[in-house]
Amino acid sequence: MFLIYALILICAWTYYFYKKSFTYWHVKGIPYIKPSIPFGNLEYPWKSIPPIVQYAKYYKIFKDRGEKHGGTYLLTRPAYIPVDPEYVRNILIRDYHYFDSRGIYYNERVQPISSNLFTLDGDKWKSLRQKLSPTFSTGKMKMMFETMMKCTEPLHDRMKRVTANREAIDVKDTLCRFTTDVIGSCAFGIECNSFESLNTEFAKYGNMISDKSISTFIKTMFAFNFQDFSRKIGIVLMKQEASDFFTNLAMDTYNQRVRNNIYRDDFMQFLIELTEKKVNLQENIKVLSMDELVAQIFIFFAAGFDTSSSMLTFCLFELAVNTDLQDRLRKEIRSVLEKYNGEITYESLADMKYMEQVMNETMRKYPLGGFLPRTCTENYKIPGTNTVIDKGTQVFISVLGLHRDPEFYPDPDKFDPERFSNENKGKIVPGTFLPFGDGPRICIGLRFGLMQAKTCLIRLLKDFEFSLNSRTKVPLELTFGFVTNLKESVWLNSRRVK
Ligand code: HEM
Repeated sequence: MFLIYALILICAWTYYFYKKSFTYWHVKGIPYIKPSIPFGNLEYPWKSIPPIVQYAKYYKIFKDRGEKHGGTYLLTRPAYIPVDPEYVRNILIRDYHYFDSRGIYYNERVQPISSNLFTLDGDKWKSLRQKLSPTFSTGKMKMMFETMMKCTEPLHDRMKRVTANREAIDVKDTLCRFTTDVIGSCAFGIECNSFESLNTEFAKYGNMISDKSISTFIKTMFAFNFQDFSRKIGIVLMKQEASDFFTNLAMDTYNQRVRNNIYRDDFMQFLIELTEKKVNLQENIKVLSMDELVAQIFIFFAAGFDTSSSMLTFCLFELAVNTDLQDRLRKEIRSVLEKYNGEITYESLADMKYMEQVMNETMRKYPLGGFLPRTCTENYKIPGTNTVIDKGTQVFISVLGLHRDPEFYPDPDKFDPERFSNENKGKIVPGTFLPFGDGPRICIGLRFGLMQAKTCLIRLLKDFEFSLNSRTKVPLELTFGFVTNLKESVWLNSRRVK
């Protein structure tokens, strides 16, 4: 009998708790989507609808209702969705100090590499960002350009071979090998030789970073909702073997470099310099600890490898479908290179304006980071209103929603680089184009990512022409894990052009 009473009591309390939690947005006077027990506005986990898609759906619901913003519940936790680009800009840029945290779960104690520039908040993030920013300066990019160019050689050789044999190219696989070589070389200082055999360990552990299993989803939701408790009981979101792999790799490389006095122009070198007191005390910069170095090398790999290969795959797909655009880009590449005696130099990249348009349109149509998370760190009054966003509220800016909004990008499914031409780019509404985020937390690797994409495209398009192979399933089916990706690869045919 006692058990039955206890059960009734627990059910009644849970019901009350939910009902009470679900009054939050109503009391605030912010429009909301009607939630239901037990998941709030989240889709059932077994439907496997990724967060990127869910937030884009919320964005569209509020937009269609003519709202400037709205509230949702992730389980019982309120999440705020800005819709008006002015609100988006306020959060990312003008009033950024109210939203300087992403609110992503990490556990420094149990898994030190989870505490990196992407996940850290507040003063810890600020100090780290200050230390790391010079690592991405123009000077450092120029230094890494040569290393990157070297990585285009095996890519070009592979293309020559498959073209001569008239084989179809698995684009995602080929570009993954290229970006693994680049980031392996530039972050860890390791020759991955991925075109000889895909470095299985890098591929295996790299894939574990963006594990999309239901168990990880549930763990992530739990850790997101109960961060302090999750830290106390030692929850980690990345598989320990992947964390051990990247930690050991970074430590071994560090030790080998320092012991043997090896110098290379890469991220590892720049971070080693930041760990050396004598250099940095002179320049009055606080030094990096060993754990910090390992965590940053890891995040450079994690953030740089999948984003760049996916972006390039989408770009080549669109160029294979729109061959007139491909021809125009090839013409530009060839005419700019002529000015530089046929050589691909760091300076030549900046002269390729149409290339910039094509890449912007690729990232507009396929935003790799489909949403930007922020947490409100101080009560924030929305300018021009009496509404206050409470400290602790999670905010999700739907980049996918904005980039595919027909009000800002008419005919949004059309791939049209003209949207970013000199004549048209002034018409882009500020706050609606966010492929790298914006404000002080904008992607630190932006220039590196663009440089990598440009060198790859130049190398490929200068000598080869691409068309769609019948193995490619059109329309493309997208998957949304940590970044926007493809369910199945893109297959292209290639032809050598003189
Ligand atoms: C095409 C390539 C890339 C895309 C589309 C991309 C996109 C993004 C986006 C959307 C963010 C979040 C920004 C925000 O919250 O406002 C971000 C952050 C970040 N990205 Fe990238 N990224 C790319 C390449 C890279 C590369 C190559 C690296 C490293 C070498 C990198 C390192 C980072 C880091 C460390 C952050 C966190 C910055 C901070 O919070 O201070 N990314 N990136």
